[in-house]
Amino acid sequence: MKKLFIIANWKSNKTTVEAREWLESITTSNKEIIICPPFTLLSTVNELITRLQLPIKVGAQDISPFDSGAYTGEVNARQIKEFADYVIIGHSERRQNFQEEDSILEQKIAMAIKYQITPLFCVQGQATFIPKGVDIIAYEPVLAIGTGNADTPKNADTVAKAIKEKNSISFVLYGGSVTADNIKSFTEMPNVDGVLVGAASLDSQEFIKIINNA
Ligand code: PGA
Repeated sequence: MKKLFIIANWKSNKTTVEAREWLESITTSNKEIIICPPFTLLSTVNELITRLQLPIKVGAQDISPFDSGAYTGEVNARQIKEFADYVIIGHSERRQNFQEEDSILEQKIAMAIKYQITPLFCVQGQATFIPKGVDIIAYEPVLAIGTGNADTPKNADTVAKAIKEKNSISFVLYGGSVTADNIKSFTEMPNVDGVLVGAASLDSQEFIKIINNA
């Protein structure tokens, strides 16, 4: 059976109390489950995962393009490494709202790799530039994010296949309006190796259904 990644992207949501409630109600599974909380919750989420002995990994949602130094407000890869094994880079919300371009994204990937954090690199289509060193891609068409209009599993599979062939990438995930109802239609596609889930990951019960239905 292929390895499946099920990733929760909490975006800018949840307080410490809410994160604790979510984690205390989650059950275990044999899939690679990764939670990407906001920076403020990285420490709490780590503590809870250890205390509750959950087989869940942690990812950050962003990373500084710079190493340690005089970069006010930035959280760098060396600091993130204390809390996370993965980091999301190149999400369309960062590209759109924070003008993150290919050159900055390349720097972020380089920082993640320097500190041995696995990048989860988001692309919006087949034509999106993929920096060197990336091995896990999340294909997330912009019109499918947060809209309830997921891509078709067939198209997601076609794009995933093309990305793998063109870039020698090991894993391609799909993201954009994934729910407990449609997850299976994506994960049963031969070239789709998991999902990146936004809104539907915020409710722990819905997320458990997503894990079980994958
Ligand atoms: P969505 O978000 O599941 O809410 O569409 C996915 C994402 O942005 O990663």
